[in-house]
Amino acid sequence: MARGKKIYEGKAKILFEGPEPGTIVQYFKDDATAFNAEKKDVIDGKGVLNNRLSEYFMTGLTQIGVPTHFLKRLNMREQLVRSCEIIPLEVIVRNFAAGTMSKRLGIEEGTQLPRPIVEYCYKDDSLGDPLVSEEHIAAFGWASQQDMDDILGLALRVNDFMSGVMFGVGIKLIDFKIEIGRVYEGDFQRLVVADEISPDSCRLWDIETNQKLDKDVFRRDLGSLTDAYAEVARRLGVLPKTGGHPKPTLVN
Ligand code: C5P
Repeated sequence: MARGKKIYEGKAKILFEGPEPGTIVQYFKDDATAFNAEKKDVIDGKGVLNNRLSEYFMTGLTQIGVPTHFLKRLNMREQLVRSCEIIPLEVIVRNFAAGTMSKRLGIEEGTQLPRPIVEYCYKDDSLGDPLVSEEHIAAFGWASQQDMDDILGLALRVNDFMSGVMFGVGIKLIDFKIEIGRVYEGDFQRLVVADEISPDSCRLWDIETNQKLDKDVFRRDLGSLTDAYAEVARRLGVLPKTGGHPKPTLVN
């Protein structure tokens, strides 16, 4: 499928104009970045795995009635998505303490939280995506109260879905980040899960061993990132059981 001109290049993806108005081609790069791009590398095969995994999660969400921007996967590295206006928030849901929450509040990583905790960060790389409160969001007009109610509902539904899917393959969903987009349909707008859902944006620990199967492998130099992502894909049936490496062994 012919893609149009480049609209935006981010750290892990490139967006191109899609074939129809209101569509976008989302291309998954192999680039990995951490700590607001202070640490960078190119990880062979990461984009292929994230394209597959994000397709898998977004399709599952659509099937249980959670709206997403995903339309279809086009090839190994590209998917067709609905064009939407991204709300400038990173919506983080945490089930267990880890990462910045552990640092900020001095809670040991892996401690189960009393209930899922939703946090919002303002999407601005130059500021390092700072944590903000609903007061900031309302006062600066980044989202309305109705949007915030909808965003919370979406985030918790994604959490239940992702936790269940991961539990089924022996993985604990520690936390994750999603982005929300506005889609306009005539006079109406609705909110959809946008961007990607992949091990780049989740913390995933093996239930038995607590082995990390997510981007912390890269952030903390814990071994091969593609092996970790391929393990998640293999357990979910996105890769055939024998496939260790993403390139030649991917199923359609
Ligand atoms: O770093 P922190 O502990 O706040 O991250 C919480 C979750 O959000 C992690 O799963 C991390 O991968 C994800 N995240 C992300 N993009 C960011 C910040 C966090 O995907 N810019």
